[in-house]
Amino acid sequence: MNTALTLFKQFIMNLLKKKNPEEMIADSKKSGLNKTLTGFDLIILGISAIVGAGIFVMIGSAVVGTPEHVGAGPALIISIVLAGIICIFPAFCYAEFASMIPVSGSAYVYAYATMGELMAWMIGWVLMLEYAIGTIAVASSWTGYFIQFLQGFPFLPEVLRHPPVWLVNNYTSVAALGQQASVPHFMGIPVCLNLPAMAIIAIIALVLLKGMKESTNFAKIMVFIKVAVIAIFVIVGFFYIRPENWTPFVPNGVKGIELGVFTIFYAYIGFDAISTAAEETKNPQKDLPVGLIGSLLICSVIYILVTIVLTGMQPMSEIDVTAPIAFAMRAVHQDWFAGAISIGALAGLTSVLIVLVFGTSRILYAMARDGFFPKIMSRVHPKYKTPYVITLVSTILMLIGSCFINMTVAAELCILGTFTSFIIVCIGIIILRYTEPDRPRAFKVPFCPWFPLAGILLCGYVMSKAMPDIKTASAIFPVWLVVGVAIYFAYGYINHRKLEKEALSVTKIEEAESASTNV
Ligand code: ALA
Repeated sequence: MNTALTLFKQFIMNLLKKKNPEEMIADSKKSGLNKTLTGFDLIILGISAIVGAGIFVMIGSAVVGTPEHVGAGPALIISIVLAGIICIFPAFCYAEFASMIPVSGSAYVYAYATMGELMAWMIGWVLMLEYAIGTIAVASSWTGYFIQFLQGFPFLPEVLRHPPVWLVNNYTSVAALGQQASVPHFMGIPVCLNLPAMAIIAIIALVLLKGMKESTNFAKIMVFIKVAVIAIFVIVGFFYIRPENWTPFVPNGVKGIELGVFTIFYAYIGFDAISTAAEETKNPQKDLPVGLIGSLLICSVIYILVTIVLTGMQPMSEIDVTAPIAFAMRAVHQDWFAGAISIGALAGLTSVLIVLVFGTSRILYAMARDGFFPKIMSRVHPKYKTPYVITLVSTILMLIGSCFINMTVAAELCILGTFTSFIIVCIGIIILRYTEPDRPRAFKVPFCPWFPLAGILLCGYVMSKAMPDIKTASAIFPVWLVVGVAIYFAYGYINHRKLEKEALSVTKIEEAESASTNV
């Protein structure tokens, strides 16, 4: 009986076992990743990660609504401001954590330092909703804009301008379109490929395999194009604002504003990805807070301006949900702008994808390094110094996923995963302030614990208010968590213990050797 009790106690202690931040920093130094990124690079990385499908696509459904829920109407301006304010609290917490434990792995690492092994694994798993499933959502929007872009060239062959449905869609969308009959079969299995999405994910993964610096240079060009296109939209659109379009300002009441905050929150997702680059940053203590807060502020201003102009240009009933910005310009006969918008959107979506694919590989790499995945997954390429095995494996899984998962559900899952990780990070900051008050922090969240508490309550509130209205994603979310728990106990827990034992015996041998040398 006693033995069973001792074993049980040991089991619980293992689940709650924390990793010392010193150990994490030491591990990261061993990894050999290149340290090339500066504060400016991180702001670019932030804007790359943030401005994408949210402002180019989802802003439409946030104003108008979806078949599952109502929209905010012109009051999306309020939702945008609120969503931006909500992000500030977790952003401060990310900045404090990243300046204290500047290693790859984002919220996974922070949860490991504060809440123990099980929570760390779970948060790493939930982060895959934000990063890997988020990649699928953005890549699906990429397909849409890419086809729209090709259609702007009448001299291209018909097959490129209007490709067969089964080559540019996922199974779910093909079923929703009632096009199953047009899908070819291979050895009796229906074949459905989202080719443009798959191609862009694969290309980005290959670029990332070569190293982060190259992709940051590429991201800078993408950021410039998308910000330029948005700036032109705001300046040109400003002259077409008709203030009567802002009446009624709040057509669907508080409910509409709340759902607007949830939907448009997607547009802010990504700033936390900056912390996944901590190990590749030259001076993380200073550069990480600059990158996080700086990029968030810049994006908030961009979004507020776009929302004011868009809702001022058209009455709510006329705003388009698939390409709202391009459509608004066409409505005021600025057709030339539609093509430019497609280019800006493709640039925006590509840069978001770079950061999401990068984040996916770095979080999984951190988890693999801790023994939660087979050892081979944590291999770093001898020449390029990038975690190539985990990048290849995760890319293949995302390629398969992009043929199955629908964009709206993927985006909603991505938002749910992000809210959950933000809540955990805010809790982590409060815990660490009490357990390790003296640990050096180059950046400190002001008014702790009130700011982190505000983050927890606000994220929790928006999430709980939206979940009853997003039925499909709300049904998948708990299943995802249960699968995560199952994988942890079936593999991660066991393998991690094995690694611990190996490390212990190495230490004992070293101690014995040094004792015999001393004699
Ligand atoms: N914030 C990112 C986007 O809007 C996810 O595409």
